[in-house]
Amino acid sequence: MKVLIIGSGGREHALAAALAQDRHEVLVAPGNAGIAREFDCLPLTSVSEVLSWCRKSHPAFVVIGPEQPLAEGWADILAEAGIPCVGPSQAAARIESSKIFAKDLMARHHIPTASCRCFPDTAAAREYILSLQKFPIVIKADGLFAGKGVTIATTEEEALQALSALSAKIVVEEFLSGWEVSLFAITDGESFQTTLFAQDHKQLLDGDAGPNTGGMGAYCPVPEAEPYRKRIEDSVIAPILKAMLDEGCPYRGFLYCGLMITPQGPKVLEFNCRLGDPETQALLPLLETPFTEVCEAILEKRVKDLKLVWSHQSSVCVVLASRGYPGKYQTGYPLTFQASQCLTRFSGVTKTDAGLVTSGGRVMALVGLGKDTDEARRRVYRDIEAVEFEGKHYRRDIALRKNVL
Ligand code: AMP
Ligand code: GLY
Repeated sequence: MKVLIIGSGGREHALAAALAQDRHEVLVAPGNAGIAREFDCLPLTSVSEVLSWCRKSHPAFVVIGPEQPLAEGWADILAEAGIPCVGPSQAAARIESSKIFAKDLMARHHIPTASCRCFPDTAAAREYILSLQKFPIVIKADGLFAGKGVTIATTEEEALQALSALSAKIVVEEFLSGWEVSLFAITDGESFQTTLFAQDHKQLLDGDAGPNTGGMGAYCPVPEAEPYRKRIEDSVIAPILKAMLDEGCPYRGFLYCGLMITPQGPKVLEFNCRLGDPETQALLPLLETPFTEVCEAILEKRVKDLKLVWSHQSSVCVVLASRGYPGKYQTGYPLTFQASQCLTRFSGVTKTDAGLVTSGGRVMALVGLGKDTDEARRRVYRDIEAVEFEGKHYRRDIALRKNVL
């Protein structure tokens, strides 16, 4: 059975590895030169190219990894052509592609989240910020910014500076304190099940310092989050899915809930219309249920009957990035690494006559597995030393956070 994965990052590498375990012929479009070491990558970059490939090759299903094609409606186009596709419709993907849509839906359905004000442009947001007495505040641009459209401003000056770099509709949000965790819902639009919790490390530097990135590392499971699972399912996931169903845009696929655990309980930071990157790299190696069954349950609307089984191991994923990321960085540096017991997941790499070279901000990730988080950490940090490229940057404190209030 052929399956096609859309995307080109570490998450798609992890999806390909999970589906390959079920003995599928896995293809990735467009993939990257690192993924191509293990799987066939197809140079398809538009939905019409994907559609004509699917019409010729009849994949059993397509999984769309990233938010951009989902926001552009690729899932609708494939589904209309009768090609089974795991991923939400364009209307449902607004939960990520428009923060204003998501905040409005949450407000109307009493889903716990930071209070906020939405503005049609930066001028209106500026006027509001000038009237504020209390900082920090959080400024978010409405749209897709690869995890980088958010600024926590501790002063009026920082807030105005953040605004000056934006040209979009703006959300200004209450600053929440607490600790963060990600939870994914697997859903067919009506029923859902949740995965293990994962914790991302969004800031660039150790100790959660520096700018926000797409994610510098993640680990799984997160035992401190377990006491909150039922509350999150009942007060966040069930009502948002019902709201979307009632409003005529049922959500099917993987729903990413980014949560802040606050002294008042869990609150939504954001929803994403997909699995997380790098959370997926940490999550999927612990899934013992064949990933194909998960995809088929979504497609065949029987998620409530899905039997999810998770390994008792722990995983730690550490991202290796190019110096300068998430700002400007140089690429084209040769990449060398040795065979490792850890899983290698490639994102920003390309191939030249000289072998693999860096081509992106997040270059690759290693995922260590172990009987507990300590063992998984030791393994991943031991093997990371053997990866070399000019400007290699990674955090040394992935999975060391104390998740306390
Ligand atoms: P988002 O893309 O909305 O999840 O924001 C990216 C990151 O900014 C989050 O993972 C948090 O670390 C931080 N953040 C976003 N919103 C808030 C908030 N209201 N209070 C505190 N931190 C936030
Ligand atoms: N790791 C954060 C994200 O996937 O958006």
